Amino acid sequence: MDWKILGRGKGLKGEVVVPPDKSISHRAVMFGAIARGECRVDNFLFSEDCVATLEAFRSMGIEIVRDDNSLIVRGKGLNGLVSSPTKLYLGNSGTSMRIISGILVGQDFQIELIGDESLSNRPMRRIIDPLTLMRADIRGEKDGLPPLKIIPSKEGLLGIDYVSPVASAQVKSSILAAGLYASGQTVVTEPFQSRDHTERMLKYFSADIKTVDLTTTIKGGKELSPKDIHVPGDVSSAAFFIVAALIIGGSEIYLRNVGFNSTRTGLISVLDRMGAKIEIENHRSGEEPTCDMRISSSRLKGTIVEKEELPLLIDEVPIMIIAALKAEGRTVISGISELKVKETDRVKTMKDNLVRLGADVAEKDDSLIIEGGVGRFDAAELNSFGDHRIAMSMAVAALNAEGESVIKNIDCARTSYPKFIEDLEKLQ
Ligand code: S3P
Repeated sequence: MDWKILGRGKGLKGEVVVPPDKSISHRAVMFGAIARGECRVDNFLFSEDCVATLEAFRSMGIEIVRDDNSLIVRGKGLNGLVSSPTKLYLGNSGTSMRIISGILVGQDFQIELIGDESLSNRPMRRIIDPLTLMRADIRGEKDGLPPLKIIPSKEGLLGIDYVSPVASAQVKSSILAAGLYASGQTVVTEPFQSRDHTERMLKYFSADIKTVDLTTTIKGGKELSPKDIHVPGDVSSAAFFIVAALIIGGSEIYLRNVGFNSTRTGLISVLDRMGAKIEIENHRSGEEPTCDMRISSSRLKGTIVEKEELPLLIDEVPIMIIAALKAEGRTVISGISELKVKETDRVKTMKDNLVRLGADVAEKDDSLIIEGGVGRFDAAELNSFGDHRIAMSMAVAALNAEGESVIKNIDCARTSYPKFIEDLEKLQ
């Protein structure tokens, strides 16, 4: 669907309950399915990506029942999965393909994992290499691209000590999942901190897992004991409204139930440095901390985002670019190579749209240089390129444009935020 959206001078007002977290919803199904016993997952995200994960485990014999906004996952233990009669289709979701692979290399059946056009072009060597070191038999197509074929390991999985070249939670989680099935201990060290939902959930399910600084160690062979999970709101989905309220003068909005795990809140820290008025209220600690946020339009100033910080806002860079264009002065974002292997090459897809909006960013080495001080954007025909986060970033840019813009294929927002348009309209 193409969506017409009128730029506006007037501020955004109102309140939104942020949709459930995508990363945590995926993991709740994955680890719930291989835990021994029943687990209730409240506030599950019924988006296309997470439903792909859910269907994958159903097709491997796991009973998963929907109860309104919750799921009941009847886990069958580490070795309770059965081979799917069909290839596992994982849609657009790199998280699903990478973490589920870590689980499947520990099974005694053969299986094939496929995805949509975007997922079929995402690098899998980053998991194939470490899993192969663990004696897994996992093969991609040419250049390590999907489909992935997984064959039972002949000699069984072996724990490894792996220093990951990328700060990727998907890679870390894939290795830790395989570590549940490996003999001995599996150790993963990442170059910089990435999101830690896997470590938190496995610990909550009584796995033998420990993290010290950037190194996590897990011992294999221990069954997981499920417990009920409440999925917090997704700070990555909140990000679009946060930036919209900051850059559109006269805005004041309230976001409820936002996940506030410090490995996910890089955007909030960066915006804070830029002078954003974001008040954190009702901070609730727990397995996964949450809070409510009040955001008012603000005069932003440019900042520097170092590459160590980037994994903490990796999915928020497209919308961060929009905020930086509106700030006073220059913003530099370093360590951008990972952005090029997301659902689209997000440097390329952002640049293409920015030109249409009458703006630009420069790329130098591994950094983006954004000159701020841009006035209202030009109204334009914008393209999501089928990437949910590009679609939603463009909706925010279009709100700030002079006149009517069109966003082509806005539907892909359903990947992570099925009610995005509805919620955005609520704030207008
Ligand atoms: C995710 C990790 C990130 C992120 C993705 C979700 C996860 O990918 O971009 O949207 O749930 O583990 P990388 O860990 O590969 O950077």
